[in-house]
Amino acid sequence: MTSDATVPQSRDILVTSALPYANGPIHLGHMLEYIQTDIWVRFQKMRGANCHYVCADDAHGTAIMLKAEQLGRTPEEQIAQVKVEHERDFAGFLIGFDNYYSTHSPENRHFSELIYARNRDKGYIVAREITQLFDPEKQMFLADRFVKGTCPKCGADDQYGDNCEVCGATYPAQELKNPRSTISGATPVLKANTQLFFDLPRFQAMLEKWIRSGTLQEGIANKLEEWLSAGLQQWDISREAPYFGFEIPDHPGKYFYVWLDAPIGYMASFKNLCERRGDLDFDHYWRKDSTAELYHFIGKDIISFHGLFWPALLTGADFRTPTAICSHGFVTVNGQKMSKSRGTFIKAETYLRHLTPEYLRYYFAAKLGSRIDDIDLNLEDFVQRVNADLVNKVINLASRCAGFIQKKSNGRLSAAPLRDDVAYSLLQDFMEAGTEIGEHYEQREFSKAIRNIMALADRANQYIDEQKPWALAKDPQQDTQVVQICSVGLNLFRLLMIYLKPVLPQLSVEVEAFLAIPALRWQDHRHLLQDHSILPFKPLMQRVEMRQIDAMIEETKTEVAAEAALAQAPTANAQAASTNAQGAATQEAAKPTAIEAIAPTIQIDDFAKVDMRVARILHAEAVEGADKLLKLTLDLGTETRTVFAGIKSAYAAETLVGRLTVMVANLAPRKMKFGVSEGMVMAAGPGGKEIFLLSPDSGAQPGMRIK
Ligand code: MSP
Ligand code: ZN
Repeated sequence: MTSDATVPQSRDILVTSALPYANGPIHLGHMLEYIQTDIWVRFQKMRGANCHYVCADDAHGTAIMLKAEQLGRTPEEQIAQVKVEHERDFAGFLIGFDNYYSTHSPENRHFSELIYARNRDKGYIVAREITQLFDPEKQMFLADRFVKGTCPKCGADDQYGDNCEVCGATYPAQELKNPRSTISGATPVLKANTQLFFDLPRFQAMLEKWIRSGTLQEGIANKLEEWLSAGLQQWDISREAPYFGFEIPDHPGKYFYVWLDAPIGYMASFKNLCERRGDLDFDHYWRKDSTAELYHFIGKDIISFHGLFWPALLTGADFRTPTAICSHGFVTVNGQKMSKSRGTFIKAETYLRHLTPEYLRYYFAAKLGSRIDDIDLNLEDFVQRVNADLVNKVINLASRCAGFIQKKSNGRLSAAPLRDDVAYSLLQDFMEAGTEIGEHYEQREFSKAIRNIMALADRANQYIDEQKPWALAKDPQQDTQVVQICSVGLNLFRLLMIYLKPVLPQLSVEVEAFLAIPALRWQDHRHLLQDHSILPFKPLMQRVEMRQIDAMIEETKTEVAAEAALAQAPTANAQAASTNAQGAATQEAAKPTAIEAIAPTIQIDDFAKVDMRVARILHAEAVEGADKLLKLTLDLGTETRTVFAGIKSAYAAETLVGRLTVMVANLAPRKMKFGVSEGMVMAAGPGGKEIFLLSPDSGAQPGMRIK
């Protein structure tokens, strides 16, 4: 039998993922990180560790302030709204945070002030005079984001004071050409100002030691070594008002720079968890010389913040340093950077409208190693891999065996010890594989774990292929043999599911129900399921189809176009643009109208394909179980049609009976949950109470074509 004697049972582990900015939605690039962290955490929990996973929204800074302004909200409204969306998306991808919090919280203010004060009292915070851009009209210093001008590198116009969106260069705001204040439009002047700096160079020796502690990834350690030998610089931790963040207690009008309080948000989120739970000791995890482990999962773009500033700040404030920083590379799609125009800048929310989360969790796991290499999401490979591995190998194994267990032994797995050599050694190998697979998970070598698991799955299927229970099943004398073979098959399946559980938590719950067993733990790989009744098999996972991917990409393109249209004409409304499309086109031939950005221009022939007809509503009723739908019976003069319309929020069914409207009569029938919809009625408006059903003028008759 296998033994995991070396697995420590009582590790205390605190794990974090980087805190996403509260100014935009979660996309599949972000999801790599949260999926990677979640798999590792689930593995630790399955193995019995005291593992806690915390995260939060990164709510401060100028970018969020400007985003809120652009949307006509207060920063508080902005971050509250985004937090709801982020939490929804993370839940959708089965990310099991123990706490999801915000950096705009009392706990974070407390720890930011504490860490600042402790560092200050030791002389690690220094005030220095620098020159900064100043708005002479508004009499205020200008943060980088409040200055725009010409990029000093490529000459692109209308770029922010910190970086150029055209060529990607970063530069100090003073170097912008033709700078202007975005607040008053005035030309900024240079003016002396005092800012606070964290004296990072004094942590050189401490950082050198920490980097060589042996727990950092090689790639990260090398990068940090490079920075250290190039020489460290003092770090500007204060920002002028207006700023959305925490005001610095002893410097009214100045605020902590967002990157000062962001990592402190890890502490704050954990503190909040401790307060909610009551059985967790905050200090045990954060005090100097703590024996608990602390891991930060981050992307490669934010290594300097986590590998230099953060451990130094913690040390200066007498807290522990992280056990390790676990960094990953960037997601590319089909070999290229995620791109809005190619429709590969896919939002988590959009993905979830088309596909189940576990496909992506599996695909990322199959590609993730412990190094900082970029990860390519190749969409064809994704479809192929999910179907070949999960559906054809893993799920299929269960479905091939389960039916015979029901038929031949009433759902009961065999009790007899499996004497035949082949089955015995196969089961042994599967059980023993847990040690190595566990080691791969521990080292964040998920792709190696998956490779091992799929090699086992191949062997399991090969066993069933060779034993051919379906052939034996024809002879009733062989029933015991059939049940034995299929019991072996289902035991192999169960072992595979133990190993896949960190990656596929939802599927695992369904498999546990099917096998009628309690939640699987890692150590369960040391025994088998015998003389045990299971439930009838139900399909556990659908194949993924390329058309689902295509639909997701199309939707992403539409979203991007709609966003672009909004950004182009933030106040002009789309209706006006539509009635005026001709005029607009002649005035500004090159610039697409807001409407064109949403739907491409079509030719008259395309329009002629749409058969729109006047229809009379003969009957309307609410649809049970659907809160938006009304079921309409429409008279088209020569025939009647049934159409489901999402207009219930604006119309009571009985008010519609008898009125005329317009329908698309040649739309292919669509099968919906509640029946087949044979066309579409036409309405305008954003939704909710504001839906306006089209009506022809009086005199129109049902069946008339709209031209
Ligand atoms: N707010 C900071 C982190 C503060 S942590 C104290 C931030 N936020 S972010 O929203 O831009 O990114 C959150 C995480 O997602 C980062 O670790 C970042 O590296 C990761 N990713 C963002 N885009 C990514 C890809 N395309 N691919 C992989 N990871 C990516 O940075
Ligand atoms: Zn530029």
